[in-house]
Amino acid sequence: MPTSTSLNFSTLGERAQPPTIAKLMAMALENPELLSIAAGFTDTSNLPVDSIEQAVSEMVSRPGPPEFLQYGSNQGRPELRRMLAEHLSLQEPALDKAEIQRGAFITNGSQQALYLAVQVLCDPGDIILVDRPSYFVFLEMLKGLGVEAVSIPTDANGLVDGDGLAEVLSEMRATGRTEKLKAVYFVSYFSNPSGRSLTEKEKSVIAEQLTAADLVVPVIEDAAYRDLYYREPWPAPSVLSISAWADFPKLYTSTLTKPFATGLKVGFATCTDPEWRAKMLHVKAHHDFGTANFNQALFEQVLSDGGFRDQLRKIRPAYESKMRTLDMALKDAGLVDLGWKWDQPAGGIYLWLTAPSGIDTALDSEFCHACVEAGVLYVPGELCYGDDAPIDTIRLSFGVLEHEQLQEAAKRFCAVAKRFAK
Ligand SMILES: Cc1ncc(COP(=O)(O)O)c(C=O)c1O
Repeated sequence: MPTSTSLNFSTLGERAQPPTIAKLMAMALENPELLSIAAGFTDTSNLPVDSIEQAVSEMVSRPGPPEFLQYGSNQGRPELRRMLAEHLSLQEPALDKAEIQRGAFITNGSQQALYLAVQVLCDPGDIILVDRPSYFVFLEMLKGLGVEAVSIPTDANGLVDGDGLAEVLSEMRATGRTEKLKAVYFVSYFSNPSGRSLTEKEKSVIAEQLTAADLVVPVIEDAAYRDLYYREPWPAPSVLSISAWADFPKLYTSTLTKPFATGLKVGFATCTDPEWRAKMLHVKAHHDFGTANFNQALFEQVLSDGGFRDQLRKIRPAYESKMRTLDMALKDAGLVDLGWKWDQPAGGIYLWLTAPSGIDTALDSEFCHACVEAGVLYVPGELCYGDDAPIDTIRLSFGVLEHEQLQEAAKRFCAVAKRFAK
């Protein structure tokens, strides 16, 4: 008699759904004819191959044992933490470098830091305030953990709406849900998906409203694209040095993947609260007890020999140029005349489009299917909202495709947009 097996998943296992990003990436990889302006891949043709070759050759010819091929520490290499604290304090001279370094840890991409942060703060049923729109992989992670995302309201221009936030917080209090509010999260520099950056005032307004509502909850600032400005760094400081946030426990996350090589998957975080940081590190030890030591050592090398700086010098204009190519191709194909709207970002790898009213661009919409049939894939904007998602926005990524491919993708996209014009 065959034995029957039963596979009973935990609540977490039951809740886990295939991530949409994996579905989008798989569609792109399975169909070579499809041009994907969906996934946030970076510029393959500009990856730092020479820099990596030099760095590895330098590392392997060092006298002494190849310690970088051994396990490292859970918190990450001290020298890399020092270098990244230095990098951050050059961006924000007002910061106390020693404090940043004390709070620092290295993760397997910044995605891991985000997961750790939420995992140690939230139980199912808890709430996190998120920007609007927000990073959809973070939102999916919240769903997977059973955490509710509540949007920070925005005004007609997409700016943080302080009065609206005050209303959301007072509604939470009136319905007895403030105890469930465990953190606030936002992507503040050349955001995924909107490409926009938060001003210092907008960041302060969030802190002021939370303080006024007596909700001094942990804040997570995701600065994944901060280094990817085209011309000038975005002037707003991070929550680490804005006075309105002084009393809040703060986690600042950033990454070396987007500005250098996504394949190396090394992230950097610094946390101002020793207890919160310790908890995250305990759980990190359960995950992996340390980020790949070799990759960290490689970053130490490229940060010290100028390879990292040179890569940034190369890719900033490369991304600006790709952004212009896609922007121009969409305009040339008549998308603005059809009533579509978007702004040119000053950094990052995304264009954020709003469709004319009445066009549904959601994942299961006819429009989305028509685009896939026409050979072009985008990220439906509906995935990028914690709640109350509009169905007329779209994220386009110009990171990975070559210029001619971006032009072709824009042509295919606009042909569909014309068919759906009202
Ligand atoms: C806003 C944002 N945060 C975090 C991440 C995670 O990146 P990584 O884990 O490669 O550092 C991404 C990746 O796309 C992102 O867009």
